[in-house]
Amino acid sequence: MNPNPRLHTFIAGKGGPWKITEIRIITGEGLPMAERLNYTNENLPALPEGAAWMLRGATSNERYVTQPEKEQLIAKQEGLDRPQADCAVLIPIRKNANWWALTQDERRKIFEEQSHHNQIGMDYLPAIARRLHHCRDLSEAEPFDFLTWFEFAEKDIAEFDRLLARLRATEEWKYIDREVEVRVTH
Ligand code: HEM
Repeated sequence: MNPNPRLHTFIAGKGGPWKITEIRIITGEGLPMAERLNYTNENLPALPEGAAWMLRGATSNERYVTQPEKEQLIAKQEGLDRPQADCAVLIPIRKNANWWALTQDERRKIFEEQSHHNQIGMDYLPAIARRLHHCRDLSEAEPFDFLTWFEFAEKDIAEFDRLLARLRATEEWKYIDREVEVRVTH
């Protein structure tokens, strides 16, 4: 079924490597609870039997980081699938029409100069590993614009929660009109 290394689909249902411990609504409509979270690079034509929901997104080039920021990130970040990372969180996010009406330079200003998204995030590396997926260009019907995925050790849950609180207090988050946390463990 055409595996595509850029396309990542998360399926909430009865199977998969992650046990869903909680689905928390942050802003807007939530997502139904399910037992487990599965994940595939296959291009699934429809929701698999017995699944509650699936969300897909594509990894892509960076939009906002400058060259020095990218170098700092590469020097400090660690990859996914580390053996000590027994917790993960999938956070699907949608931004509103005002955000998408802005130009690239206006968005960068809000993202970094005003909100310090990357600067804040860097404080939590390498404990938190992450991957960003874009959904907006896959179809007009995608329920979210981004799927953000984070992996960390259980001892770093409180740190991760502090990171969330700092980001959610920023100017950038005023443009987010739907956000859900899907918390999982191994
Ligand atoms: C772990 C620390 C984090 C770091 C180092 C970090 C860093 C970054 C960077 C560099 C980008 C821009 C990528 C680009 O140039 O296109 C980005 C985008 C993004 N991040 Fe984070 N981030 C972190 C945590 C988070 C968290 C916890 C969330 C969600 C609650 C989040 C949500 C997003 C979203 C939605 C985008 C896409 C923004 C857009 O394109 O409009 N990030 N992040």
